[in-house]
Amino acid sequence: MCGIVGFTGKRAALPLLLSGLSALEYRGYDSAGVALAAERLVTVKSAGRLSCLQQKLKGGVWGQTCGIGHTRWATHGAPVDHNAHPHATPRLAMVHNGIIENYAELTAALCEQGCVFRSETDTESAAWLLDGIYGENHDPVQAIFKTIKQLRGSFAFGVIFADRPGEIYAVRRDSPLIVAQAEEGSFLASDVPALLAHTKAYYRPDEGVVCRLSAQGVCFFDDEGKEVAQRLETVDWSVEQARKDGFEHFMIKEIYEEPQALQRTVQHYLKKGLPRFQNPMLDGDALASFKRVILVACGTAMHAGLVGAYRIEKMARVPARVEIASEFRYADPVLGTGDLMILLSQSGETADTLAALRHAKAQGVPTLAIVNVVGSSVAREADHVLYTPAGPEIAVASTKAYSVQCAVLELIAIRMAMAKGRMDAHRARGLCVQLADHVPAEVLATLELSDRIRTLAVALTDAQHLFYIGRDLDCALCTEGSLKLKEISYIHSEAYAAGELKHGAISLIERDTPVVALMTVPHVAEKMISAIREVRSRGARVILFITRDLAERYEIPFDDCVQLPVSSTGQTVFGAATALQLLAYHVAAARGLDVDKPRNLAKSVTVE
Ligand code: F6R
Repeated sequence: MCGIVGFTGKRAALPLLLSGLSALEYRGYDSAGVALAAERLVTVKSAGRLSCLQQKLKGGVWGQTCGIGHTRWATHGAPVDHNAHPHATPRLAMVHNGIIENYAELTAALCEQGCVFRSETDTESAAWLLDGIYGENHDPVQAIFKTIKQLRGSFAFGVIFADRPGEIYAVRRDSPLIVAQAEEGSFLASDVPALLAHTKAYYRPDEGVVCRLSAQGVCFFDDEGKEVAQRLETVDWSVEQARKDGFEHFMIKEIYEEPQALQRTVQHYLKKGLPRFQNPMLDGDALASFKRVILVACGTAMHAGLVGAYRIEKMARVPARVEIASEFRYADPVLGTGDLMILLSQSGETADTLAALRHAKAQGVPTLAIVNVVGSSVAREADHVLYTPAGPEIAVASTKAYSVQCAVLELIAIRMAMAKGRMDAHRARGLCVQLADHVPAEVLATLELSDRIRTLAVALTDAQHLFYIGRDLDCALCTEGSLKLKEISYIHSEAYAAGELKHGAISLIERDTPVVALMTVPHVAEKMISAIREVRSRGARVILFITRDLAERYEIPFDDCVQLPVSSTGQTVFGAATALQLLAYHVAAARGLDVDKPRNLAKSVTVE
């Protein structure tokens, strides 16, 4: 949600800023801008994708060696040139990721003092506030601290001052920010992909620490102006992992990475064939003491939670419920002894998930985060963290992160079942072998169906709306299949528990309404067949996704069918998820859409 970059060093800054912004465009892409510092500050910005900004910069001579840049996901003010960042005042230029909640009162007060606002953004109030405070004594670190004390909300700021060419200042609260020192100079960014071409070592400054970047390096200051040390972290992603590698889109590349990501994740958490998390709470007896599991997340991660809740209840017989993070803390949930809260997040920066985590911690509930981005806010603040080594996920639509989240939850469910005395080691080992070996192979085999699924997808490109139906675990999967389709193809779709359809929504079924029916769960197979008959007899066109064994066992009516090369077990979810992701991808690609950057969305939602 908005990408910010900065560079100061021995080379021209502009190309580095633009390549950094290009690597961060997944965070927001409705407008972009840069500010460059030499004798004076120059700001260039443009509505539209980064390419529009590049076009505007063409032909200029841009030798400045210090600058900041931004790619925006609009919150306050339409995506037009004047709302794009950086926001410049006489003394500075600022880029911002986050939301200043008290911007209206600040703006009113600043306008009264004579500041002339040029945008409708919340950010400009922070820029003018800092401008005025900086004007008092020209001490950037002190001025930033004084400014942020007056701000409510979340922010990661990058600032350059007109009278300090060669220096960039940055600070964050509840928004991601990293800084790094490389051969060429010092870098500032919202996320690792912007830095990968230059360095793999970076600092993720603590909240409220002011960073100063110069050609010589990076320093950090606390609110008394004292220099403080920050921990250097390294990332094990390669530049290649953050490139498309010959695939047309990141999304399809990331779907194809699922077999490996699953294998890597499961192997990482297995020892002698059983789940082992190198964590005293999860490996010891403490796991047996939990009476309830609450899984909290947003969007796709929340859908992984639905799968996890099924599996925890099924195997460990521990009540498990899923909460939408944005609702959780406002619902004043009843929490207590015996609760374990699991937070799921690819980015580890989702504002609602972070807020839910803080709420649970304040109530004394133990928290466990399952996160893909090492060192991210959710990972740092949770009591316990399990990383999903899926590698960078760049496409806005989450795919491989979902699969590995489900895999880690499966391992937790097995471990909990053992701790509760519900599963012996022999059975647990069998499930783990299946997860480690068979599941990645099944997902690989599912990928071979890509062409077949593409053919089905082409027939759906003109659909106005469609349904996903399933029962039991398939019901959880349908929610994700449906979300994937609507977010990237812009076709309205609904996920329904197959048995619930007849209680209302079946009135929407008419001749040729496409219905994706998912059938992988044996004990509800006959019920699913009834639901399929019900919609077909009302004219629906049923596209059946079914496991091999169920297809062999039952006579099922359908219009199109994809036989999943997997057998029905609780772990069928992985192959089936891949198939539904492929369907969504091919529909969006066949509609000629920008699959990796769907409209109105951004990868990491760092505002509430
Ligand atoms: C959809 C998607 C989103 C995210 C959600 C949570 O494809 O990616 O629904 O799953 O915004 O993001 P994280 O997992 O980063 O907390």
